[in-house]
Amino acid sequence: MSTQGARIAVVEDEPIQRRMMIESLEDGGYAAEGFGSAEELMEAMQHLRFDVVITDMRLPGVDGVELLRRSREIDPKLQVIVVTAYATVETAIQAVKGGAYGYLRKPVDLEELLVAVGQAAGNRRLREENMLLREQLRERYSMSGIIGNSPRMQEVFSLIVRAAPSSATVLVTGESGTGKELVARAMHLQSPRATKPFVAVNCAALPETLLEAELFGHEKGAFTGAERARVGRFEAAEGGSLFLDEIGDIPLGTQVKLLRFLQDHTFERVGSSRPTTADVRILAATNRNLEDLMKQGRFREDLYWRLNVVMVALPPLRERKEDLAALIEHFLARHAKANRKKVKGFSREFFSALYQYTFPGNVRELENVVERAVVLTRGDMLRVEDLPLYLRPGETPAVESEGRLRDVLQSVEQSMIRRALADAAFVQTKAAQRLGLSERMLRYKMRKYGLKEQREEGVGPQKTPRT
Ligand SMILES: Nc1ncnc2c1ncn2[C@@H]1O[C@H](COP(=O)(O)OP(=O)(O)OP(=O)(O)O)[C@@H](O)[C@H]1O
Ligand SMILES: [Mg+2]
Repeated sequence: MSTQGARIAVVEDEPIQRRMMIESLEDGGYAAEGFGSAEELMEAMQHLRFDVVITDMRLPGVDGVELLRRSREIDPKLQVIVVTAYATVETAIQAVKGGAYGYLRKPVDLEELLVAVGQAAGNRRLREENMLLREQLRERYSMSGIIGNSPRMQEVFSLIVRAAPSSATVLVTGESGTGKELVARAMHLQSPRATKPFVAVNCAALPETLLEAELFGHEKGAFTGAERARVGRFEAAEGGSLFLDEIGDIPLGTQVKLLRFLQDHTFERVGSSRPTTADVRILAATNRNLEDLMKQGRFREDLYWRLNVVMVALPPLRERKEDLAALIEHFLARHAKANRKKVKGFSREFFSALYQYTFPGNVRELENVVERAVVLTRGDMLRVEDLPLYLRPGETPAVESEGRLRDVLQSVEQSMIRRALADAAFVQTKAAQRLGLSERMLRYKMRKYGLKEQREEGVGPQKTPRT
């Protein structure tokens, strides 16, 4: 690697010494400039960029050690060589420990100087190239915090790049934990609306009656409890994006209103007949199969087509294992930082245990596993021992005795729900009553455990469409 033309600063208060070094550097093909004090160099660094600084340890005013610290604050990749008299060799060694590239003894041997500068300048180039490479990689492997170098995630990135600038409605689908919300946020962040609000509404979390008021706002006295008029999320998102999460759970009546908004951008506050307009881009997500819901009459087909202008289908993690290493690195760095732990990496066995796993909870589950490992680990590398037992090779959940209470409870809950459903001939109202759950909660749990809404042989859906 050629270091010809590298820019060298020489800081030395003794003019003859300084001149000698500059001349020999120039003869060696470098662009060298002299400074009589650290302060002068600092001043110059405000507008000039150097590759290597050669500095005397003992200077009037700010000394070489302090110069090292301050100049590397300005430019962390700056290579500093300190020049020292016998008496200060100890300090020079300290300087090297503190980040100096190396030190030279006085009187400076000019040959030696050229060799040291050549190496330091080469080191600088290498660091810069590394950094560039890493930046390019980071760009390629991530977008607005979404990690993914697999062809399928690259496809997703490319869709985001193409769709974000428009105001087209986007439907993001994918299993739970695949990153749907992340994609919706990226769409917003990469759009011209980025400086305006991103408002998220979880359509499944809100009780049916409150959802409309939440979305469209309401007038004073529109319903019991509506003591004041209230602006809805549509208005709150003016100029920005409205993220409708779990869109598959929107009741049919609200679907009609949403459809109207998508057609002509108008809506009415609950309790008002005066149409309002809002400039809002709709981003929607669901982990349910909307086609199935349409067949069951629970999701309007016209709404589906309006929403589905651009569809981003996120693949489950088990179908893009190429992303695993980058994702682990990402979460490792995030949680090591949050927990102030110095964790540098993970063992091969740690990786292969994760590689063999199917991740039903997708990226969210992976993040939990990595976070847990970072918290528990005693060393600076994540090891198989830092994984929960069900992920360790050769061990099964059955042998586990320590605290996986949540998993046990969930499996009990799941079997109770199965039994109640079977007993109630899959009439959800009855099953919910029997379990002491609301119907909504029952549906939520059935979905969570992947339970079928009906007998496998296919009795028609018991649920009557909501209006
Ligand atoms: N490709 C990815 N890169 C980095 N982090 C990711 C990625 N995908 C998901 N995550 C992280 O995993 C977690 C779950 O992601 P997110 O909430 O977007 O999933 P989701 O698809 O909306 O899940 P759900 O259907 O359960 O709501 C978040 O913490 C998110 O930051
Ligand atoms: Mg989500």
